[in-house]
Amino acid sequence: MYSEENSSGKPLANSSWLLNHHRAKIPERTAFAKRLAKLQPKKIVDLGCATGLWLELLNEILPLDCEFIGIDSDIESLEIAISRSKSWSRKTSFIKLDIEKDAALIPSADLTLAFNIFPYINDLDTFLNSLVSKTAHGTLAVRQYDGASIRFGPMPTTMRQKIEQELQVATGNSEKFRHYDLDRTFTALQNSAYNNIEYNFELFERISPFDQEFIPYYKGTMFWTCQHISDASAEFLSKWMDEDIYLKNRYFYEVDLVALLS
Ligand SMILES: C[S@@+](CC[C@H](N)C(=O)[O-])C[C@H]1O[C@@H](n2cnc3c(N)ncnc32)[C@H](O)[C@@H]1O
Repeated sequence: MYSEENSSGKPLANSSWLLNHHRAKIPERTAFAKRLAKLQPKKIVDLGCATGLWLELLNEILPLDCEFIGIDSDIESLEIAISRSKSWSRKTSFIKLDIEKDAALIPSADLTLAFNIFPYINDLDTFLNSLVSKTAHGTLAVRQYDGASIRFGPMPTTMRQKIEQELQVATGNSEKFRHYDLDRTFTALQNSAYNNIEYNFELFERISPFDQEFIPYYKGTMFWTCQHISDASAEFLSKWMDEDIYLKNRYFYEVDLVALLS
């Protein structure tokens, strides 16, 4: 099964998946990292830092007097993050922690990152309430994808809808994560005790011919989708990919919810 789970069983979180995803989105992620740098943080806590890709990007942009703390519950991911950080010249540490169970142990910071982490949190309202005190004098930055805002084509609408519906049913049964979590996230942020919330919807778009950095993420998304849909739909999707093997007539886009809370 092309599950893309990490060593503790979290879906869409293994190191190669995250790397492909990251490389595909470097221009958009760099632009967002520069926006965060304008907040002039002195201490950044990255919740669900995984293999440290966002911190690596921020390391290239933030002044050296900004401390980094990465937190994750997956030990193998943290080991990769630690080795990735070896060459950084700033104060950096990593903590193995279940951020939902042990939210009280999350260090305070003037910038806390919660990027694609909420789908794994069961009680989002309680979790956000516990974060408010940790970010009392700073900002919580949230980025959240949603399975329903990923679209690739061109293909007949009836086939797209069939694939989307089958994927929703298949992932909807997962007790491990929520592939469709943007609305729950939006509602929880709205209901939280944060006074100021700035929302954006960030578009990620690629039109063929695709650049080399994007193709592994694109193909990975297709393979992962094929694993979760019916045999007939998977066969359609595989053929659809084979029809345009040189990727000359394809588009892909997705939309992330991006929020800054203080
Ligand atoms: C999809 S990855 C996101 C990685 C990174 N933030 C990004 O945006 O690329 C989710 C990460 O959250 C971690 N995670 C999930 N639930 C967690 C929990 N309760 N406590 C700590 N880490 C958790 C997983 O181990 C995984 O590394």
